[in-house]
Amino acid sequence: MKITFLGHATLLIKTTKSSILVDPFISGNELAKHVINLDELKPDYILLTHAHQDHVLDVEIIAKQSKATIVSNYEIATYYENKGFKVHPMNHGGSWNFDFGRLKYVNAIHSSSFADGTYGGQPGGFILSADNKNVYIAGDTALTMDMQLIPMSFALDLAILPIGDNFTMGVDDAIIASDFVGCDVVLGYHFDTFGYIKIDHEQAKQKFTEADKKLHLLEVGKSIIL
Ligand code: NI
Ligand code: MN
Repeated sequence: MKITFLGHATLLIKTTKSSILVDPFISGNELAKHVINLDELKPDYILLTHAHQDHVLDVEIIAKQSKATIVSNYEIATYYENKGFKVHPMNHGGSWNFDFGRLKYVNAIHSSSFADGTYGGQPGGFILSADNKNVYIAGDTALTMDMQLIPMSFALDLAILPIGDNFTMGVDDAIIASDFVGCDVVLGYHFDTFGYIKIDHEQAKQKFTEADKKLHLLEVGKSIIL
């Protein structure tokens, strides 16, 4: 499994069977829009954790050019279905076997409305099980006790956690979250894009190291392979 960071909370995940794009926000991201070519993104699936603009801005253009299936909570899926897109609705606690593997939509503590105020259901995260790996994509969330449920059912190979603070967990809570989910290998995301979420990379990595954990911070366009 190859996971490429496309800036902010946008990920491109290539499994043996499929190409999966998560929370596409590129054209509005000064740190990504000159590095990532939107036209080249032709995923099979687009996963959406919640409806905020910094997670869905480029959904429609990419879904149009790729015919991708949009996977999200019921309200977000219905919103895009009504616009003619192919969708797969889920809700919290539910799992489904897709052709690439299995997805579970899990709890997050945050909010979820579209830019025009339309209700975007309750926000979530995903656990992706594919190619014999389990990856937790937290979405925008606070540190929450519900994270402790995850290791009861999954041995994670990677936890992708927001670390930018202000709108989500910051680094210190992400370290606790990493304990809660039972995974010491973390890919940080949702940082640096806006003034509110700028972080000190070296200090963040140092804090994880001191907790005997590993924090990966990828440059836009760079990947890790599991
Ligand atoms: Ni958000
Ligand atoms: Mn966000």
